Amino acid sequence: MANSGLLGSSIAKKYWMSLTGLFLISFLIVHLLGNLQLLDLSAEGQEQFNIYAKFMTSFPLIKITSYFLYASIVFHAVDGIYLAIQNRKARPERYASYKPNRNSIWASRNMGLLGTIILAFIILHMSQFWYTMHWGEIGMDANGNKDLAAVVIKTYQDGTAGLIMALLYVIAMAAVAFHLYHGFQSAFQTLGINHNRYTPLIKKVGAAFSIIVPLAYAIIPVFVLMAKN
Ligand code: HEM
Repeated sequence: MANSGLLGSSIAKKYWMSLTGLFLISFLIVHLLGNLQLLDLSAEGQEQFNIYAKFMTSFPLIKITSYFLYASIVFHAVDGIYLAIQNRKARPERYASYKPNRNSIWASRNMGLLGTIILAFIILHMSQFWYTMHWGEIGMDANGNKDLAAVVIKTYQDGTAGLIMALLYVIAMAAVAFHLYHGFQSAFQTLGINHNRYTPLIKKVGAAFSIIVPLAYAIIPVFVLMAKN
């Protein structure tokens, strides 16, 4: 049956969305802990950050995990855009009785838009830091490590361009916040974790996570920008 086949593949896609989404969420925590080191912009703080960046780009287990991460981003984005288009096609907007606001929050109806903003940001972000760290022109610090801290500082302290970069970062984190406000609890629901006792807790943890984590990320470029002397 063509219909059940189509439905089946959509459900499979939803499962992959939730698994890759949860993997990306776990990455967000690890990456944030590393980035928060940039709140210490002393010479020692910057050198410490560069040691950390070297470790993250050379330790074999982390390198393998990062390949999974790249694959997850691509998979999640491709499936997400596909599902968003499918959902849009299936929406009964023609009917006067269709009142989306009554049934779902804004974020849940705009996951594709939010995801696309996040994807654009990931491409910009990786070209600025990940690409530079691996193959770009980059100076060395006093310990002979690639000076990624200096690249970050230059990015956000570079006059008007720095201001725009910090602003784009904050906007992207707002998109992450809305995406996760719906996505966090939705992933558990997709995996069939529906429980009288645990679901309200998952929703609360998801709401707190979706506000605290993007906010903590957004503070970093703003702090670097304001630390300019
Ligand atoms: C920081 C990176 C990201 C994280 C942590 C994340 C996390 C999540 C989570 C947990 C879900 C819920 C999955 C479910 O309902 O079972 C989700 C859904 C979704 N994500 Fe992401 N996501 C990220 C980036 C992206 C990107 C880059 C795109 C697209 C370009 C995207 C598009 C979508 C879409 C369209 C859905 C809803 C799928 C549906 O219709 O059910 N996401 N995301």
